[in-house]
Amino acid sequence: MSANDSARLRWHLRTRGTSYIVSVTPDGSGLVLDYWGPSISEDALDDIPQWNEPERFVSFSSAADVQPLEYASDGQRHASFSELLIDRGSGRTGARWSVVRDEVLSRRSDGGDELVVPFDEETGTLRLELRARTSREHDVIRRSARLVNRGADRIELPRMFSAAWNLPLGQDVHVDYLGGSWAHEFQRRSIDLHWGTFSLGSRQGVTSLSFSPVVTVSALNDAESFQRQHGNAYGVALEWSGSWRLQVETAAVGQHARVSCGVHEDVTTVVLAPGEEFSTPDSLGIFSAESAAGVSRGWHEFQRAELARDLSPRARPIVYNSWMATAFDVAVEQQKTLAREAAALGVETFVLDDGWFAGRTSDRAGLGDWQPDPVKFPNGLAELATVVEGLGMRFGIWVEPECVNPDSELYRLHPDWVYRADGRPLETIRNQYVLDLGRNDVVEWVMDMLRTLLSSASIGYLKWDMNRPITDGGRPGSLHGREWSVQHTRNFYRVLEMLRSEHPDLVVEACASGGARIDNAVLARADVVWPSDQVGARDRLVIQHGFLSAYPAWTMSSWVSDDAGHRDRQPVSLGYRFAVAMAGVLGIGSDLSSWSEVEKTDATSMVQAYKEIRKVVHHGDVRTHGLPGENLYAIEFAGPPDDPRVVILVYDSDRDRTRDRELSRVFPTALRLGCRYEVRDGFGRFGGDVVTAESVSTVGLPVRFSWAQDAEVLVLTPLDEY
Ligand code: DGJ
Repeated sequence: MSANDSARLRWHLRTRGTSYIVSVTPDGSGLVLDYWGPSISEDALDDIPQWNEPERFVSFSSAADVQPLEYASDGQRHASFSELLIDRGSGRTGARWSVVRDEVLSRRSDGGDELVVPFDEETGTLRLELRARTSREHDVIRRSARLVNRGADRIELPRMFSAAWNLPLGQDVHVDYLGGSWAHEFQRRSIDLHWGTFSLGSRQGVTSLSFSPVVTVSALNDAESFQRQHGNAYGVALEWSGSWRLQVETAAVGQHARVSCGVHEDVTTVVLAPGEEFSTPDSLGIFSAESAAGVSRGWHEFQRAELARDLSPRARPIVYNSWMATAFDVAVEQQKTLAREAAALGVETFVLDDGWFAGRTSDRAGLGDWQPDPVKFPNGLAELATVVEGLGMRFGIWVEPECVNPDSELYRLHPDWVYRADGRPLETIRNQYVLDLGRNDVVEWVMDMLRTLLSSASIGYLKWDMNRPITDGGRPGSLHGREWSVQHTRNFYRVLEMLRSEHPDLVVEACASGGARIDNAVLARADVVWPSDQVGARDRLVIQHGFLSAYPAWTMSSWVSDDAGHRDRQPVSLGYRFAVAMAGVLGIGSDLSSWSEVEKTDATSMVQAYKEIRKVVHHGDVRTHGLPGENLYAIEFAGPPDDPRVVILVYDSDRDRTRDRELSRVFPTALRLGCRYEVRDGFGRFGGDVVTAESVSTVGLPVRFSWAQDAEVLVLTPLDEY
């Protein structure tokens, strides 16, 4: 990273293919954005003007209110939004800052750049650090802020966001985001924003089913951004799994849209006693000149390079999960039978879901008592684990460590461990309370409980669930009690990190009633995630379409099931259901005892076919073509350099079967120019047609539906270069 020596400091941070250039404001009170876009060479830096105050600001505003500030506090700004609000009691609020030039940390290495710019507040009692970090392996910029109280008085922070991102897109922008509800998560939605604020968030103590902490913003005249190949687009995300808020703002002044995000201020007040400090979670920003679809690919590159610890099948195995077959009514012999059926299909891990522990006959009791039910598992879990391992699979179980049923030994022993607002009746959701994981004794208990459980049997897979939002969060009487959401989230991370360090072979699947806690912070600490309880294949496809716009296929756990969707109840073939689940980490959730021999034979072939293409799906670049509700929708995976095949999963939504099948064609965009590809279906059948990027771009690739009547799996193998 380069910093010029002139009076005004400036830094150039480089990612793999982009540049991010910021300067100190002319009066030294903040950082402003000069440039964010395609890579700029050092020689060309002088061509990028340093941001300057306009000669005359529009009337009725201060300089700081209209500058493209990278972070602002009240006291510095007056009318426009500020990421930091400071309350010193006695009616004095805010701060005004001066850069501490001598203490700037600016490091550039082959691996990436790091910048820490400190500011002191006018009275010298507060230090604010703005941090940024890049990598040469991807295009994401990480930013955060740290505030230290060096004074003698306590202060409160009614808001401390992570960062503001100034997007040079003009005043009219198109915002793509993900929203939904239970069994209907990750729906892609968008809004055209002219002047005003568009705000998303969660007050639920977890990421939420309602919105995901990630947006894509492009210029309004570039709308339909996911359908295009070119055009500038910016992505902003918050790497955080607790309560959060993200807002996009444009105004009638200035040429930037501004995205600010951080821990949700409605449910968090940070208190800094003398000597204390607070560091925000990281916010992530990315630029792509290839529209919103390029932003999605950029997120995946970042997640592959920085968040995934292991892309091999061992960390994301094909799972059979018995929840949909047996629910709470589990027993050792019946689970052994299911395990034998699953192993015969080629499944790699057998997961025993909810219902295995003492007193758990329904969701009304037992949560918190993590010993195997003595009637259902008289010899503990080890008996089933041994059988599962003998069948060549790994054994997994379900846990929900943060919650407790009132009807449990744990709650009877520790009624004070749950979140409660003094004097108010406790509120159950799904018949359960939430443990105050922010407390040291509670998090230590959770870690010890998991250690004991994991040593009680050979357990190689843990599905971590969380089935309610946190209500009445807080710890009345405690100085830092209003930071409960931050403390809970950080201790959740602590437990996941303990599992990784003490049980490095354990695969963790993160779940929260489906997709209520999926974000980049969870992707950094869990191997796979469960995006939704919606297993109806057509509905699931819509969810996966949204999921893949921000999160990667190699984390996307997906089961073949026999259930119809909640919304789209049209029947689909087994092949269609497999093709949906094969777009991520394949799993099976059906009651296998109800499958016919033909279904089992077909499923065995499809599991084998998935194993053949899994590397391309997990390591490849993803492109989607069309929308799931359209007649033909396709997901194209372009494999990595050591497996450069292209896999295309095609789904037919032509319910009435009125369309001429001859017109069923897909138009792949990931084939290399000048290369011939041999085309086969996922079973390795049909004649080996040969196509090129050039030919498919004009006439498309015919879809024969040889995999199933309503789905196709196409595998294109490069033959040579010419
Ligand atoms: C909610 C999850 O999303 C389901 O997959 C299942 O694990 C149930 N909880 C079990 O209670």
